[in-house]
Amino acid sequence: MKITGAARLAGIMGWPVAHSRSPLLHGFWLEETGIDGSYVPLPVRPVDIEPALRALPILGFRGCNLTIPHKQTALQVADRVDPLARRIGAVNTIVVAEDGSLEASNTDIYGFLENLRECAPDWDPQAGAAVVLGAGGSSRAVITALTDVCVREIRIVNRTLSRAQAVAADLATSATPITVHPWDGVTRLLAEAGLLVNTTSLGMAGEPALDLDLSPLPLSAPVIDIVYVPLETRLLAAARRRGHPVVDGLGMLLHQGRPGFEAWFGAKVRVSPELRVAIVKTLAP
Ligand code: ATR
Repeated sequence: MKITGAARLAGIMGWPVAHSRSPLLHGFWLEETGIDGSYVPLPVRPVDIEPALRALPILGFRGCNLTIPHKQTALQVADRVDPLARRIGAVNTIVVAEDGSLEASNTDIYGFLENLRECAPDWDPQAGAAVVLGAGGSSRAVITALTDVCVREIRIVNRTLSRAQAVAADLATSATPITVHPWDGVTRLLAEAGLLVNTTSLGMAGEPALDLDLSPLPLSAPVIDIVYVPLETRLLAAARRRGHPVVDGLGMLLHQGRPGFEAWFGAKVRVSPELRVAIVKTLAP
């Protein structure tokens, strides 16, 4: 990679940030497009997030991504926040405007929906209820995306019901009602589902397994796992064996990077098989 003194700059702020795959992802696209630019890791302590964000235009940065623990605080600092990001309560992308002001958005929604469109193009949001496992930060992004495409109904299954109730109260819309359910009712819910999404950490390397009997789930229902280490979780392997459309978590991660890249570096990019291979190599559990 060669950059000149005129290179366009972007990066990712996190604490820690060393685990992030985003520099590799954007580096791949910079190489592919031949753009004179650089995307760097920016280790920023929580106490420093506001001055660090305000320094972006001063240092000539076009913007940045945000990862843990900055996604909520950055929302408070930004000058303009996209309405969907405000609904989730978290931002992951900052674009520096011409006048140096900071525009914030959450591209996880875009990443989730693009990945779903690519892997399950025949999915119909009106076909049945979407069953969403989990009620944490990732669940909020997934549920906001599903309400954005007016899915018929969402049923949240979570260990801590009060947490699921808070998500339902915050995110239900007139087009998409949300109900909450304990784990012991999941088999019954699957029988009426048109989509199943795991947003819990169950099934992630080092976490307990997610053991679900998928037999009641209609075969047309896509099964999505946002866990991507391992890439094929036990849930996705079982779904694939039964013949469901399956959607893995890596696609969401890769697609969420596209709007930021396009805004900072000025070129459209795609999620190619070569890109997936390059990132998968780094995912050993
Ligand atoms: P994230 O921001 O990635 O969504 P999170 O906010 O910590 O992470 O949410 C983790 C989700 O996984 C929650 O829904 C959590 O359930 P609780 O709300 O009851 O904590 C779920 N989860 C994690 N470990 C779990 C376990 N052992 N059994 C059931 N659910 C679990």
